[in-house]
Amino acid sequence: MAEFPDVQTRVTQLQRDLEGASPGRVVARALETFGGDIAISFSGAEDVLLLEYAHQSGHPFRVFSLDTGRLHPATYRFFATVEQHYNIRIEYCFPETAAVEQLVRTKGLFSFFSDGHQECCQIRKVAPLRNYLKGVSAWITGQRRDQSPGTRSTVELVEQGSNRGRGGAPLVKFNPLAHRTSVDVWDAIRAFNVPFNPLHQQGMVSIGCEPCTRAILPGQHEREGRWWWEQAAHKECGLHQGKPSDG
Ligand code: ADX
Ligand code: SF4
Repeated sequence: MAEFPDVQTRVTQLQRDLEGASPGRVVARALETFGGDIAISFSGAEDVLLLEYAHQSGHPFRVFSLDTGRLHPATYRFFATVEQHYNIRIEYCFPETAAVEQLVRTKGLFSFFSDGHQECCQIRKVAPLRNYLKGVSAWITGQRRDQSPGTRSTVELVEQGSNRGRGGAPLVKFNPLAHRTSVDVWDAIRAFNVPFNPLHQQGMVSIGCEPCTRAILPGQHEREGRWWWEQAAHKECGLHQGKPSDG
């Protein structure tokens, strides 16, 4: 991405400015810096805390969700609750109809149980994400290092994202919760009285699509409730993967 040196410079400057900053400060700075050219990616789980911080900042903010068509009914209801609570409209992103039809007409509705989740996630999540991100210069995610020691242990508060944004430039990606733990997040959700997805009360910690999410037992890592039939090393759907040089 040497052809976009200004983005790299900007990321380096933001990293310096935000070193050790609280999640609320990171969200506020992200919104101050990018205004309407940034959006929060909201999965309908505990990342709702990001919306609370955005609300507290007093800045207007955009939120988008990837509606895979396979989310839990409770998550759809929760989206509506959140829209009402924060007086916002979520920008829902849908997969391409022809691609979903092709997949389910050839392989059925549950192909991921036999040949892995990558193909379905690519169609229902990754492609719509790429498409959405072409319209912004920066995004905010709820990724944390403790969510997946194997794949997220190096997540930074601010980094240059792997997807391309407006004008084909690399995106600035904010991960305000990078250094926070699950316990920190839940302490804050309770302290600020933030609405949360009722599935968390049924033993689900990390929440994604309905067929691919299940409750975990005490002592299990939260990632064990996602794509549990697959090897731990593969438990990413691709939303946060890729090198800056990827298209
Ligand atoms: S995933 O890659 O395994 O699905 P995870 O559920 O841990 O991701 O969520 C990490 C962050 O990715 C969320 O906090 C959110 O920023 C983003 N994300 C995940 N799923 C979605 C979704 N369906 N819509 C929008 N953002 C999402
Ligand atoms: Fe498909 Fe499961 Fe991935 Fe959702 S999480 S897009 S249902 S494979």
